[in-house]
Amino acid sequence: MAGRKARIIAVVNEKGGVGKTVTVINLGAGLSLNGKDVLIVDMDPQFNATKGVGVSPGEDTPSVYDVIKVPEPVPARSAICKTAWQHLDLLPSHVDLSGVEVELVDEPGRENRLKEALTPVLDLYDFILVDTPPSLSILTVNVLAFAREILIPCQTHPYAYGALDELLETVSIIKEEINPHIRIMGVLATFFDQRTRVSNKVLESLKADKRFENKLFDTVIRVNTTIAESAYYDKPVVFFRRSSTGAADYLSLSEEILK
Ligand SMILES: Nc1ncnc2c1ncn2[C@@H]1O[C@H](COP(=O)(O)OP(=O)(O)O)[C@@H](O)[C@H]1O
Ligand SMILES: [Mg+2]
Repeated sequence: MAGRKARIIAVVNEKGGVGKTVTVINLGAGLSLNGKDVLIVDMDPQFNATKGVGVSPGEDTPSVYDVIKVPEPVPARSAICKTAWQHLDLLPSHVDLSGVEVELVDEPGRENRLKEALTPVLDLYDFILVDTPPSLSILTVNVLAFAREILIPCQTHPYAYGALDELLETVSIIKEEINPHIRIMGVLATFFDQRTRVSNKVLESLKADKRFENKLFDTVIRVNTTIAESAYYDKPVVFFRRSSTGAADYLSLSEEILK
C-alpha cells in the first residue's frame, strides 16, 4: 500500500511481570484480526514475545540482534519472519541481545541503531509493536528513540502504581534529549481483580491521576488464568481461546486503539 507508514508503539515499564509481553502479543493479534498488518519486534533478550507467537529463536536464523549489531548488521527484512497467523510478522529476539550493552558502548549513535534498521520497513506495516526488557538499558533506549507512542501497562497493585513516577521521568528525559516525537499514548490497567479492594483502589487512583487525564484506556485487563495457559502453548490468548476474558479484553483494547 503506497504512502503507508506504521504507527510505532513501544510497550514499556521498567518493572517486570506487569503484562508487557502479553500486551504486545495480544494487541498484535487483535490488530491483525482487524486486518491490520502488524510487526512485533522483540527487544527483550529473554525472548518471551518471540516464543509467545510460536517462534523459537534459532542459532542460525537472524534476529533483531543481527539487525542492530556492529559491524555488518543485516537488513531488517531478512530477519523478519512470518508467524502462523495472517497479518502478523515478527522480528525475533535472541539471547545475544543481552551483550549489546557492552558491544555498543563506544559506538557513536548507538541509541539509534533500531530506528535506522527499521526505517526501511515502516511502509510495510500499519503497526509496529515493540516489547522491551524490564530495565532501562541501551536496548530500551533504542526502542524509545525509535517509537512514536508509548503504552504503559500498570498492574493494579500499589507498588506498580508508585513505580510509574520513575518511568515518566525517563520518558521526559528521552523526549528532551533523544526523541522529541515520543508521547505517552496510554496507560493500561492490568491484572485487575474486581473482587479485591486493592485492585479497585489502584484503578480509582489511576482514574483520578491528573498526569494520565485522557490517557487511561477504558479497557481494563482482568486477571485471567487462560492467559498463562496460552503461554504454555506458545500462542496469544486471542488465538488460543477466543471465548476467554483475556481474549475479550485484548480485543477490546485493539478496537479502542483503532477508534
Ligand atoms: N491478565 C493476566 N492474567 C493472568 N496472568 C497474566 C496476565 N497478564 C500476564 N499474565 C502472566 O503474568 C506473567 C507476566 O506477564 P508478562 O506479560 O510476561 O509481563 P512482563 O513482560 O511485563 O514481564 C506471565 O506469566 C503471563 O502469562
Ligand atoms: Mg516481558
